[in-house]
Amino acid sequence: MKKSSFSALLVAGVIAGGLVTVNQAFAYGAGDIYTRVGIAKVAPKDSNGSLADGTIDVDVKNELGLAFTLGYRFHDKLGVELLAALPFEHEIDLDAAGTDINASTKHLPPTLTLQYYPLGGTDARVQPYLGAGINYTRFSDEEIGIDGAELELDSSWGAAGLIGVDLLINDNWALNAAAWYLDIDTDASLGGNDLGTVNIDPIVVMGGISYRF
Ligand code: NI
Repeated sequence: MKKSSFSALLVAGVIAGGLVTVNQAFAYGAGDIYTRVGIAKVAPKDSNGSLADGTIDVDVKNELGLAFTLGYRFHDKLGVELLAALPFEHEIDLDAAGTDINASTKHLPPTLTLQYYPLGGTDARVQPYLGAGINYTRFSDEEIGIDGAELELDSSWGAAGLIGVDLLINDNWALNAAAWYLDIDTDASLGGNDLGTVNIDPIVVMGGISYRF
């Protein structure tokens, strides 16, 4: 989705919210199929480890992108949700004994979580949720600023945690904020030689809208 259509969707949601009466109760629970769309910031943890027996320090930079989810509530208080996104491209700074080397990679971090909604099935318009699940991250287009060298980052499976909240506007729309913790560790190799493990372990923070069908 283009940024302009995203803004239009957001404005439409807010306008729709202004038109409903304040005391209306909204069904929020079992049977809901929902999508959440927003701008996500992927912030890798501060220290991403070192490679080649500690001689290269790794710093994976933050990145912004569009993320979206698809979820289903099979119980008033329980749901499953898949986080998807367009590929994020991260700059990676490598520091080899004072010499800076630039690298980069793209990655897709689909994440599936089981979610608990403590206020699901009630009239509450503020609906927080917690989740836990699994992340799979695939890296592509790895590049490194060394002539002729080929950087490769292996795919990663890891645990995921999630916290979020929907602020209900009406039966369909809500404002949403959510944050995931993803355990992403990838084995790096250069020209086929093992370099070690990069710990990316990002927090993904998304702000946007929820829509329930
Ligand atoms: Ni980790």
